[in-house]
Amino acid sequence: MKNTTYEVKKSEALLKKAKEVIPGGIFGHYKYAIRDTGPKFFSHAEGAYFWDVDDNKYIDLMCAYGPSILGYKHPEIEEAANSQDSEGNTVSLASPIMVDLATTLVDMVDAADWALFGKNGGDSTSLAVMIAREATGKGKIVKIQDGYHGVSPWMQGKGRPGIIDSDDNHVINVEWNDLESFEKVLNEKSNEIACFISSPYDHPTSRDNALPEDGYWQGISNLCKKHDVILIIDDVRAGFRINLSGSNVAYGFTPDLICFGKAIANGHPLSALVGTNGMKDAAEKVYFTGTQFFSASPMAAAMATLNELKKIDAANKMTDYGERLNKSLIKVAKESGYDLVASGVPAMPYYRLDSVDVRTHFKWIDECVRRGVYMLGYHNHFVSTCHTDQDLGAITDIARQAFEALEDNTQ
Ligand SMILES: Cc1ncc(COP(=O)(O)O)c(C=O)c1O
Repeated sequence: MKNTTYEVKKSEALLKKAKEVIPGGIFGHYKYAIRDTGPKFFSHAEGAYFWDVDDNKYIDLMCAYGPSILGYKHPEIEEAANSQDSEGNTVSLASPIMVDLATTLVDMVDAADWALFGKNGGDSTSLAVMIAREATGKGKIVKIQDGYHGVSPWMQGKGRPGIIDSDDNHVINVEWNDLESFEKVLNEKSNEIACFISSPYDHPTSRDNALPEDGYWQGISNLCKKHDVILIIDDVRAGFRINLSGSNVAYGFTPDLICFGKAIANGHPLSALVGTNGMKDAAEKVYFTGTQFFSASPMAAAMATLNELKKIDAANKMTDYGERLNKSLIKVAKESGYDLVASGVPAMPYYRLDSVDVRTHFKWIDECVRRGVYMLGYHNHFVSTCHTDQDLGAITDIARQAFEALEDNTQ
């Protein structure tokens, strides 16, 4: 494999132009990913790849931060969305596809007796919290320290731009895998606590991701039941990459509500909240909606996505691929004199170079990106079902070249 690095001149010029008309040029989570030597805008995408505006090709290990689970422009998914679009998308009534999709989720997801729909993952987490408050008549939310559930003011935390202190007055943070501190909070305030919300495992940014310790989820679940606290699993990021029946199934417990988003429609804008029968009355009462919530084409895309995921046993396929990817990258790191730590679940690996300063880690990632593997230094990665063995070989070769570049001070 040739060891050449990409130029990103068109990306740079476009970012300059963007800054004139868009605050920051690129905003939100995409802004954090911008690196001097990396691409800033894509031109097109297909399967496991995208091309930037300078026409450089990348093997994408970010998968649009999760949505691209079957790969970009998947023929069956696009056909389902386009076919629904030709009949009507956002219309003055809901489409029957919404009922079909809810039925599919109820059949597929163990804990689901019903489903509601939104656009972004943050819609489903905010709705889940409102339903928990309605169901319990209590107000406070317990979440994991640094756990991310969207951009709602309750979730962002004190001191962030645009957030006032009272926005998170009702939020209590506890450490991941710390049953004792959760129990202590419940013993002190259980008559005020409506819900516990957490992703199925801890996947914060900028540090190693952590799986649940044995008995953690059973302990959380028992405590929630004992204290009339609604258990919400935020499966927005991990959903369908661990277990197609809900990530909780892999860890042996049943929540009251599960939030899905990202991968549910393979990149078409849709999120879902599913819940048990015990939550159904409260879910019916809470008012939560949006102009685009009833768009039928993303729902058709979701139906096709869920069916395809089932058909190809997608979660196991991605787990197997992620395990092989981790093994290969750890090996090439060792051969290059580095120690690479892979954490989190295999289908969503978080990488960190151990025993070097964080700038070296970021430089290694930059050198991978400059040679055609799109990765981030502070975030977990995502594999999709269309990453191939050939891609795995190319990623490994590029990773090796990137390690070599770390030793070469001229680059
Ligand atoms: C675990 C988790 N929950 C919620 C969200 C919010 O989803 P969205 O950005 O689609 O609103 C995200 C987004 O990254 C997430 O990772």
